Amino acid sequence: MSTHAEDDVAASISTERTVSAMQTVPAAPDAERAVASRTRTFDNLRLRKDFADQGAFLYLEDFLAPEVTAQLVHSARALLDEVNRNYLPGHKQGGSVSRHTIDRLAPFIAELYRSKELIGWLEQLSGDKLQVSPADDPHAYALYYYTRPGDHIGWHYDTSYYDGRRYTLLLGVIDESSCRLDYELHTRNPDVPDQPGSVQIPPGGLVFFDGDKLRHRITPAGPNEMRVSLTFEYVTDPNMRPWRRLISNMKDAIAYFGFRQVFRQMTRAKTGGKDRA
Ligand SMILES: [Fe+2]
Repeated sequence: MSTHAEDDVAASISTERTVSAMQTVPAAPDAERAVASRTRTFDNLRLRKDFADQGAFLYLEDFLAPEVTAQLVHSARALLDEVNRNYLPGHKQGGSVSRHTIDRLAPFIAELYRSKELIGWLEQLSGDKLQVSPADDPHAYALYYYTRPGDHIGWHYDTSYYDGRRYTLLLGVIDESSCRLDYELHTRNPDVPDQPGSVQIPPGGLVFFDGDKLRHRITPAGPNEMRVSLTFEYVTDPNMRPWRRLISNMKDAIAYFGFRQVFRQMTRAKTGGKDRA
């Protein structure tokens, strides 16, 4: 049982923590302006060629404006208590925070995801007309956490369950780890030999690829390591056949976000709830 004096001390510590947390919260930047400040400095014709030559894959180690990176780092740390942990023996171990939680607690990320400057730039790179993912897709924007020894994801494609193509934009947020993104280019193109590669994505770095074309994995984290990445998913056709929707939802519930997040949000979206954009 605590005394009044202890309560006072606890209250004062808690106030100090709140004040110091507030002091360190960076102001949310203007997403459009921040993206434009970077994309307009690039040689975009060259990047488009690189993307095509690498079989719909591009890596840039310095993409985000510093104020955007700072905001993402703050959000990634602030959302640690919201992480949903998953373990699929032999394939995947780690944590994730879905778009639904991000909408509630880190709206700047949703704003960045919808940035017209960002989408326009990705359209230039890919040569495709891109759309945001439907409101009930928890992968539309999500944070992925590698915080315990062995956290990783095995070789896979970001398979599109949609009628059209699905692109993944991966942004480095926190990297205090030895984790690497290993990948193989051209695996779906019989005319070009497979080309392996590996990158460690620093905060503010970018990887952009067609999910059905890039075979990739994240190597296991070691002890006392922490890696957080943010991924955005864009599609060329947001329609999905009902049976594919079921497979996709089951996969998301088991491998990523948990049944509550996936199916509760799906029901809400169907009934015209506030998450339907
Ligand atoms: Fe992936």
